[in-house]
Amino acid sequence: MLSQESVLGVVTKNRYNYYLSDIIRQRAWVEINLGALTHNVQEIKGLLSPKTALMAVVKADAYGHGAITVAQTVLNAGANGLAVATLGEGIELREAGITAPILILGAINTPEEIAAIAHWKLEPTLCNPQQALIFSQTLSQFGETLPVHLKLDTGMSRLGTPWHQGTEFVKLVQQLPSLTLGSVYSHLATADDPDSTQMRLQHRRFKQAITELKSQGIKLPCLHLANSAATLIAPNLHYDLVRVGLALYGLYPAPHLRSQAMLKPVLQVKAKITQIKNIPSGTGVSYGHQFVSDRPIKIAVVSIGYADGVPRNLSNRLQVLIRGQRACQIGAITMDQLMLDVTHLRNLQVGDIVTLIGKDGQQEITADHWASLSGTISWEILCGFKHRLPRVSVENFEKTTD
Ligand SMILES: Cc1ncc(COP(=O)(O)O)c(C=O)c1O
Repeated sequence: MLSQESVLGVVTKNRYNYYLSDIIRQRAWVEINLGALTHNVQEIKGLLSPKTALMAVVKADAYGHGAITVAQTVLNAGANGLAVATLGEGIELREAGITAPILILGAINTPEEIAAIAHWKLEPTLCNPQQALIFSQTLSQFGETLPVHLKLDTGMSRLGTPWHQGTEFVKLVQQLPSLTLGSVYSHLATADDPDSTQMRLQHRRFKQAITELKSQGIKLPCLHLANSAATLIAPNLHYDLVRVGLALYGLYPAPHLRSQAMLKPVLQVKAKITQIKNIPSGTGVSYGHQFVSDRPIKIAVVSIGYADGVPRNLSNRLQVLIRGQRACQIGAITMDQLMLDVTHLRNLQVGDIVTLIGKDGQQEITADHWASLSGTISWEILCGFKHRLPRVSVENFEKTTD
């Protein structure tokens, strides 16, 4: 992968006298709009009371947007901390010089991982008493103390101690050496569902656990529950901190949440036309000849494929934008390339830019649209863009069509 630094900051020319940045937009790439990202942080902060902090969820390479650049941008824009899923993701951010608090959402169980967490000053999630004991023992050996974040399972049935055992869990952690209580939190399973019954049930359970803890005189430094959907729709679930992923990247977890904030998509996916040709009627296109022309047509070959993150199950169903107009993708999407029917487009040239996700002129294609076409969620579409696609940061999306 071409790192952000090599994309934007190359100073050495290669022996053919081209800068690396000159070749970055030659095949296919992802454009990351830092202006839109900053706007989304501000828009989300506008929904929060001044005492509620914003934790930016930048796991999975910031949902495919590039973790380091996103982390730096959201922190500059006012986010108060970061969350990642894995130890490796946390180390990547620390190695890039990021000093903000970083919560690891995933489970950590081995002494080797705990040592690395302490070394890199990351903040772990503890999901059960056994894990708390391992952490305490290991950290005591190193003479280290770490803030830990206790996860209660209020209905997601993934990580966490059952909410009704929350008091025992918190009390245990408070007694163990080398651990300080950073926060108590839970995660919502259905916050994007227009029917809020399950979300309200999870909230009741969370409140019940907190009430019990408080009734025993336990001081809770920080409580959190909300993801993007709950941040957008349910201010009573904001507590001390919200953990926001998808909304940062300018997408809405569900259509009914659109009216809650004015978010701007941060990512665009583009590729170039590498060949244009005419084919006669009755010609098969791509592997398996799933598409056969029923008249003479003009096709364009585009240098992006399923190995870049274009789902193969969208073959023959995708549309793309070229020079502000739509074109249909035809035949099976291949690993590195796909074909378009461009019969209706005049003056096309090799090198023309094709927008797969994003805006071109008046037209727009969204990750949400891809998700509904391919029977998945927009989170998976965003995370699906592979490292082979360079991430190019821009201050604002340029107009592709002049
Ligand atoms: C524990 C936890 N909190 C917050 C989030 C952010 O969710 P969203 O992208 O819906 O904002 C995630 C994402 O999966 C998560 O696992």
